[in-house]
Amino acid sequence: MAGLLDGKVAIITGAGGGLGEAYAKLFAKEGAAVVVNDLGGARDGSGSGTSAAAEKVVADIKAAGGRAVANGDDVSTIAGGENILKTALDAFGKVDVLVCNAGILRDKTFANTSEEDWDKVIKVHLKGTYCCALPVWKWMKDNGGGSMVLTSSTSGLYGNFGQTNYGAAKAGIYGMVRVMSIEGRKYNIRVMGLAPGAYTRMTSDLPGRKDREPDPLSLPENVAPGVLFMVSDLAAEHSGKILGVSSRGVREIKMVETEGFAPGRPYTAQEVAENAAQVFFDVPENVHRLKAPAAA
Ligand SMILES: NC(=O)c1ccc[n+]([C@@H]2O[C@H](COP(=O)([O-])OP(=O)(O)OC[C@H]3O[C@@H](n4cnc5c(N)ncnc54)[C@H](O)[C@@H]3O)[C@@H](O)[C@H]2O)c1
Repeated sequence: MAGLLDGKVAIITGAGGGLGEAYAKLFAKEGAAVVVNDLGGARDGSGSGTSAAAEKVVADIKAAGGRAVANGDDVSTIAGGENILKTALDAFGKVDVLVCNAGILRDKTFANTSEEDWDKVIKVHLKGTYCCALPVWKWMKDNGGGSMVLTSSTSGLYGNFGQTNYGAAKAGIYGMVRVMSIEGRKYNIRVMGLAPGAYTRMTSDLPGRKDREPDPLSLPENVAPGVLFMVSDLAAEHSGKILGVSSRGVREIKMVETEGFAPGRPYTAQEVAENAAQVFFDVPENVHRLKAPAAA
């Protein structure tokens, strides 16, 4: 049977484990030649600098009859991003798909955030997405286009306790998706955003998950088809959209603008306050938790 990515070349960053590994294996199964990037290391980004994790995933893909090559570069430098692209071009001659997925976690309440942690988290996630996307973007722009998925998070889109550094980076990536999708139209480059939810080493000790067997729907393998959809031609008509993909299923996450207060004349802060209750705050506070209507 034909694969959804037959003949395509895909780069996946941070694919030595967790979600990225599941994407790499599914993409290879669907016919893509895959660049598996990962520089190893702990969840907080310490102790990195080996491509062993990436090589293991590549070995698994090859053993299953797929095509893949490992890359151990650091996503958070332009030199690293350029070398990841070079790995794809040297091994497979082109790139059609990029998934920016690599990430680390250094959670602290805002008051306890250190400058070092702030800089490192922003560097790996936000700058890392820039450093990997830019060289690939330039190549795609000159070679007929392609598709990208950039990894955001509900932590940045809705907010989450103890994750100011991470949330700031992930909200920044949302902004990149929106802007790049507009600029990409001209070059046939589609850019989609992902807010995943899965049981990985990043989330395994969250309150409620610790000491519990993972729900089978929470495995990275259940997020991978959503990402495959976004990078494949099944989503050819879509760009600039953010999909939440988790054990709750797949949904679109949107910025909501409410009705406004616009009297068409200069106004005072008191007038804004009087109108605010009626016009701004009529969206249920937890709008993101609204459930899809039950099937009839
Ligand atoms: N798991 C979730 O529920 C969840 C929720 C929201 C967002 N995310 C995002 O999904 C992505 C994948 O997360 P995961 O849960 O699979 O975590 P993970 O820790 O299992 O995987 C992240 C991978 O990125 C690699 N990495 C870290 N820094 C790197 C760098 N500088 N260069 C190259 N590789 C690097 C790590 O070695 C690791 O293998 C991350 O961007 C994360 O923020 C995950």
